[in-house]
Amino acid sequence: MRTIMVTGGAGFIGSALIRHIIHHGSERIVNVDCLTYAGNLQALASVSDSHRYCFERINICDGEAVRAVLARYQPDVIVHLAAESHVDRSINGPAVFIETNIVGTYTLLEAARDFWQQLPTLRRDAFRFHQVSTDEVFGDLGDTQEAFHEQSPYAANKAGADHLVRAWHRSYGLPVIITNSSNNYGPYHYPEKLIPLTIRNALEGKAIPLYGQGTQRRDWLYVADHAEALYTVMQRGRVGENYAIGGRCERRNIDVVNAICTELNALDIARPEGVTDYRELITHVEDRPGHDVRYAINCAKIEQELGWKPRESFESGLRKTIRWAIDHPRWWLRDTDGIGTSR
Ligand SMILES: NC(=O)c1ccc[n+]([C@@H]2O[C@H](COP(=O)([O-])OP(=O)(O)OC[C@H]3O[C@@H](n4cnc5c(N)ncnc54)[C@H](O)[C@@H]3O)[C@@H](O)[C@H]2O)c1
Repeated sequence: MRTIMVTGGAGFIGSALIRHIIHHGSERIVNVDCLTYAGNLQALASVSDSHRYCFERINICDGEAVRAVLARYQPDVIVHLAAESHVDRSINGPAVFIETNIVGTYTLLEAARDFWQQLPTLRRDAFRFHQVSTDEVFGDLGDTQEAFHEQSPYAANKAGADHLVRAWHRSYGLPVIITNSSNNYGPYHYPEKLIPLTIRNALEGKAIPLYGQGTQRRDWLYVADHAEALYTVMQRGRVGENYAIGGRCERRNIDVVNAICTELNALDIARPEGVTDYRELITHVEDRPGHDVRYAINCAKIEQELGWKPRESFESGLRKTIRWAIDHPRWWLRDTDGIGTSR
C-alpha cells in the first residue's frame, strides 16, 4: 500500500484532503500535526477509525521527530500543508509564522531529502514532495502569476517557503510540485476568516465586520474541490511544476457577505432576536494595512493538463457551507480569540 504523509492534516484543508483520500483512494495516510489552535481532530472523526489512517502529534520544526516518522512510515508522497495561515495573525505576531512556515518547511525539506536519497531507485523516482501554497504570494497582480509581490507577513513567508521548495528541487533534485490556490471555504473552517466568521456572527446576531468598503476581490474555492485537485496533482502532476488552483468564482468581499445574508434570509430558521434582515448586521471596519485589492488566479493549466475542474459554483458551495454550519453549531460556537475579520 502506498503511503501519503500529510502535514497539517488536522487543519481545514488538510482534513478535507484526508477525508477525500480515505473515501476515494487506497493509500495509507499519516497525518503529522502538532494541533495548534487551528488544528482539530474532530474534523477527522468520520475517517479516524480507518485502518488506513494514522496520526502523529509532531511539530514540523522538530527535525528528529520528523525523521523518525519518515523512517517509520516510509511515505511515497509528502503533502505539506502545516502552516500558520491567517493574515491578521501574521500582522499582529509574525514570529510563529517565520518559525512554522519557513523554518518548519526547511526542516521538513532537509528530512525529506535525506529520506528520499536513501530510497531504492524505483521509489526514489516515484517520490513526491508537494508544497501547498496560496495565490497570496503573487499579491495584487491582475492576470499574471510570474512574479512575487506578496504584501503581508503571511504571504511573504509562504513565498519564502515556496522558494525553498523550488531550491531543493534545483539544487538537490528533490522531486517537488507546488500548488497555489485561492481562498478556500467550506465545512470545518475555523471561524476567523471571512466566510465562516460571517456565517457564525450572523447566526449569533452579532455584527458582521467587513474591511473598508468590502471592494477587495478574491477567487473562492470550495474546500472539497481543492482536496480533489490536490489529490489529482499528487497523482499526475509533473515534477518541478507549479499549478494554480481556483474556483472560477471571483467575488468582491461585500458581495460574499451579502450572498451569505441573502441565503440566510431565505432559510426557514429561527432568527436571532431583533434581526429581520441579516444585512443589517454588516459593519464596516478600518481596512487592514497593505490589504491586497485583488488576487487573480488562472487555473487553465491544471484544467487542461490534468483534467481537473471545480465541481461547485459559488452559490452551490456557499449553500452547502451554510447548511453544514446550521447542522454543526458546536463547531461554529467554539471560542475564538476574536482575531480576524477577513483572510
Ligand atoms: N485556507 C485557505 O484559504 C488557503 C488557501 C491557499 C493555501 N492555503 C495553504 O494551505 C495550507 C492549509 O491551510 P488551512 O487553511 O487548512 O490552515 P489551518 O490553519 O486550518 O491548518 C493548519 C494546520 O497546520 C497545523 N500546524 C501549524 N503549525 C504546525 C507545526 N509547526 N507543526 C505541525 N503542524 C502544524 C495546525 O495544527 C493545523 O492543523 C496552508 O499551508 C495554507 O498556507 C490555505
